[in-house]
Amino acid sequence: MIYILLMLVLVLFPSCNKSNEDNTKPELILRYADNQASNYPTTQAAIKFSELVSDRTQGKIKIIIYPDGTLGNENEVLKQVIFGGIDFSRFSLGTFASYLNEFEVLELPFLYRDSEHMWKVLDGEIGNYFLTLTEDSEIEGLSWFDAGARNFYTITKANSISDLKDRVIRVQESDFMSAVVSVIGANAVQIPYSDVYSSLQTLKINGAENNFPSYVSMGHSEVAKYMLLDEHIRIPELQVMSKKTFEKINSINPSYIDIIKQCAKESAIYERDLWKKAEEDALKKMKEQGVILTEVTEEEKSYYRKQISSLYENRTEKEKQIIKAIQDM
Ligand code: GCU
Repeated sequence: MIYILLMLVLVLFPSCNKSNEDNTKPELILRYADNQASNYPTTQAAIKFSELVSDRTQGKIKIIIYPDGTLGNENEVLKQVIFGGIDFSRFSLGTFASYLNEFEVLELPFLYRDSEHMWKVLDGEIGNYFLTLTEDSEIEGLSWFDAGARNFYTITKANSISDLKDRVIRVQESDFMSAVVSVIGANAVQIPYSDVYSSLQTLKINGAENNFPSYVSMGHSEVAKYMLLDEHIRIPELQVMSKKTFEKINSINPSYIDIIKQCAKESAIYERDLWKKAEEDALKKMKEQGVILTEVTEEEKSYYRKQISSLYENRTEKEKQIIKAIQDM
């Protein structure tokens, strides 16, 4: 009898049959690409971002993270984010500035004195100005990630920056980065990040340049054991959302956009913390692997500074003002 009554209730009021499964069912399932491994700080921060967004939208927005470049190399992902095929990503400005050239000034060699100086710039008015620049583009900038300083490393020993002359050095797929490296007389070759290890191994290139965590994470430290501690460039990274995704989310519920922006800021702070530890761990690993670290003299650095001066001079008046404001900070 009770069973018959129960069945009757379910037939007459079908909504009672719905478990709370429907309430937690995502309204949107979105994709986030990163070309780093899943234990790398940027990917860890992407996972954090996804968890925060899921929590604060009561599971309505689910973001799936694709690490290791599984959705393509950075340039391919950039195109996909423009078209809305990929919803979120994190780009090195080495890649992103080929899309919005204005960002080049933030990755000029020797622009920042140190990490603290870079964060003062990115956390302040200038950093915000660049984020607002993306508002009229197809990619919305959400927050800044740390990527430390980059150094040159080679298969056979280089004693100084000038010693890199005539060597084949891999750079990111960016003409700007080719210029940064060619000014010292090296032959810059643009190769995607995922192909650098095999290019070193097969001697297609003599060396490359990157930060400590990337150098170790991608196994470059196993094949190119000589590193110059030149810190020639700090390239900030940008966590982004496709404008197509922005519009889709905004049409469903504009408050979700505020949640996403806030979670992006929080995940960026998380990344910055992880970054410090990742640099220390990478350096420890490099020492265990027998990497030879060579200090670069101030004289060598000023030689390089002189070589790259054209990258500072061939700028618009507005860009020159920004550069000056950064240097004066
Ligand atoms: C860094 C950066 C990557 C980039 C890579 C490169 O590791 O985090 O996003 O692809 O440099 O040199 O290509």
